[in-house]
Amino acid sequence: MNALHNPERWMMIADEDGVVAVGVVATHRQRDSSVHWTFETAVDRSMRFPAFEDKVVSEVLALVPPGAETSGWSRRPSLDASLERFGLSVVRSLSEMAVTLPVESSPTVTEQDFLVRRFNDDDVETLVSINAAAFGDHREAGSLDSEEVESLMLESWFDAEGLLFHEVGGVVAGFCWTKVHDNGEGEIYRIGVDPQFHSAGIGRRIVLAGLEYLATKRGCSTGFLWVDEANAPAMGLYDAIGLTTRSRNREFSPALTTSHGR
Ligand SMILES: CC(C)(COP(=O)(O)OP(=O)(O)OC[C@H]1O[C@@H](n2cnc3c(N)ncnc32)[C@H](O)[C@@H]1OP(=O)(O)O)[C@@H](O)C(=O)NCCC(=O)NCCS
Repeated sequence: MNALHNPERWMMIADEDGVVAVGVVATHRQRDSSVHWTFETAVDRSMRFPAFEDKVVSEVLALVPPGAETSGWSRRPSLDASLERFGLSVVRSLSEMAVTLPVESSPTVTEQDFLVRRFNDDDVETLVSINAAAFGDHREAGSLDSEEVESLMLESWFDAEGLLFHEVGGVVAGFCWTKVHDNGEGEIYRIGVDPQFHSAGIGRRIVLAGLEYLATKRGCSTGFLWVDEANAPAMGLYDAIGLTTRSRNREFSPALTTSHGR
């Protein structure tokens, strides 16, 4: 169920002019079956002062069960400062990288032994297994299962033509999943290469094929993606293709418990 359909998963603060803050919590089941809670908030620009930011953090933390392992995401300096007042510090930084489309370097997809094809309904298990091999125990990305894939396939943005599979010698070596947003920007939503094919140029070709699809088939003039700045292979790859950072989303931890009192 989408968190916004569950009143226990989100909060809202309003004044006489309307909504000035919202907060939402999400759960992530980890490989060891423990549950990690994350929270995000949005605050009206006029309300981004310390006392109000602290109130919003308190309210959103009240949605988390006492004692749960929790971290918060921030994209604004006023929230960074508030989270630091709550004793949290940055443990992860995600970079939003973007590039103007089309990119100059186009992938060569006609080489013998290398095939790009679209996703078919019977590819669900293949997608799950390559994703698991590529992402391992990554907290969010590693847990993709067939149920989640099937649920994503029902999303309005899902486009089987834009979920590209890359085969080498008849074996699926990696995938590039694209997503077009309402504002017309095209996202590389997820990309993974089976580790046995790493460092062979597949990742570069996959990203370029995805960006080419977004530009030529979907008419996108901007391509973007989110990447963990600690992911050196991915950062190196995107930098080499010409993507540059346009914003950041930072995770603050260590785990808070809702009983810490502030
Ligand atoms: C990131 C990933 C897709 C790269 O795939 P790959 O097929 O190994 O990459 P390529 O062989 O095409 O390498 C292309 C470029 O990426 C960069 N790169 C690749 N591996 C790298 C590494 N270990 N360290 C630094 N840069 C690296 C280099 O710039 C490289 O160009 P070069 O070979 O000319 O130096 C792959 O490591 C992967 O699937 N990782 C796990 C899933 C993941 O992190 N997805 C991205 C999430 S945003």
